[in-house]
Amino acid sequence: MNLIGSCGSSDMLCKHINERRKIPSMAGKELNSNFYLKLIGYISTHTNACLFVGKSMNPQHALQNAVSNIICSIVFGDRFDYDDKRFSYLLKILNENFILAASATGQIFNLVPFIKHFPGPHQKIKKNASELVGFIGEQVKEHKESLDPDSPRDFIDAYLLEIEKQKSNKDSTFHEENLVMSTADLFLAGTDTTSTTIRWGLIYLIQNPDVQERCHEEIVRVLGYDRLPSMDDRDKLPYTNATVHEIQRYANIVPMGVTHETIRPTKLRGYDIPQGTMILTNLTAIFSNKEHWKHPDTFNPENFLDENGHFSKPECFIPFSLGPRVCLGEALARTELFLYITSLLQQIHFSWPPDPQPLDMDGIMGIVRLPQTFNIICCSRDTEE
Ligand code: HEM
Repeated sequence: MNLIGSCGSSDMLCKHINERRKIPSMAGKELNSNFYLKLIGYISTHTNACLFVGKSMNPQHALQNAVSNIICSIVFGDRFDYDDKRFSYLLKILNENFILAASATGQIFNLVPFIKHFPGPHQKIKKNASELVGFIGEQVKEHKESLDPDSPRDFIDAYLLEIEKQKSNKDSTFHEENLVMSTADLFLAGTDTTSTTIRWGLIYLIQNPDVQERCHEEIVRVLGYDRLPSMDDRDKLPYTNATVHEIQRYANIVPMGVTHETIRPTKLRGYDIPQGTMILTNLTAIFSNKEHWKHPDTFNPENFLDENGHFSKPECFIPFSLGPRVCLGEALARTELFLYITSLLQQIHFSWPPDPQPLDMDGIMGIVRLPQTFNIICCSRDTEE
């Protein structure tokens, strides 16, 4: 995946994978444990502020900015305003690279990084990537200048302290270049995935108004209008929880997973797989398998409910993949999805504007499967009822 477009960035990803997976737990230890709780509060209070109530609007930027601010708070220790022009621009070029990286141009660039020396459409990916990396580099520089070793503020501070700690270890992979690349990984992976899932969710909820109503009624019955949802509410909101999971199944935003390669000759179910074989996971097949799902081909929260209406998650629900390389942000993404979607459904009714554009439900295939651009109308439930 050449999102950050540096020649050999996938090598970088592989070589430093162990370190990268160590860092968030290290950062977690360094940071105040209340930090995560603050984030949850942040999600709940800022969700609705990001959407314009009553007007036809494209929710993309607001949702992307709101979700990105969560990962920004973790890695940069700061959030960005919705009208911050520089940050909006960075989100725009990040989007562009999510689409370009999976295009024919992006794939050729990934296979033959040497073409970076020649003119062509791949130069756009490279330019976007260096701007994103440049932005992260600036953040690292600012952090170095204001670092207080006794009070690390975020992921970058925690990483800088680790670089210092490992200074005498000549095998250490904690150094500044890796700090920039690891921060870029978290920022990229943590921004578009969750906000894209929520955008697909809005489409499915508008297309299935009965589901939208049933979630709203359940949320208001349990929480009222004033109490914001927390993760502890999941068990009391089985239908809403099932809907959030069904949005993820049906949106299937990473349909072929992320590419892997066998590092040794491998046998799987009687098949010999040579070393160096590229492996893809067909999540689409898993998510539409008739043996595992009651309603494989339609959007239906019943897929996650048992006969008593209790939430029940089939084992084959693996949108974050499995194994040692399972999504690093799974817990964060699951928290974000539940809190964002629940608080949106608590406060807002979503509908199409008059004469909506027909949507191609196959979406746009990039690194993630994105919905086409669409507009919605958000009506405050307070004023509606
Ligand atoms: C709905 C949201 C998300 C989905 C569906 C998703 C899905 C995935 C999938 C399928 C992979 C590939 C796992 C594999 O290689 O087998 C992955 C990897 C990864 N994800 Fe996520 N992800 C989401 C959100 C996030 C968030 C919020 C973060 C931010 C921390 C994140 C960080 C990562 C990272 C760093 C990797 C690479 C892990 C590695 O290579 O070891 N993801 N994700």
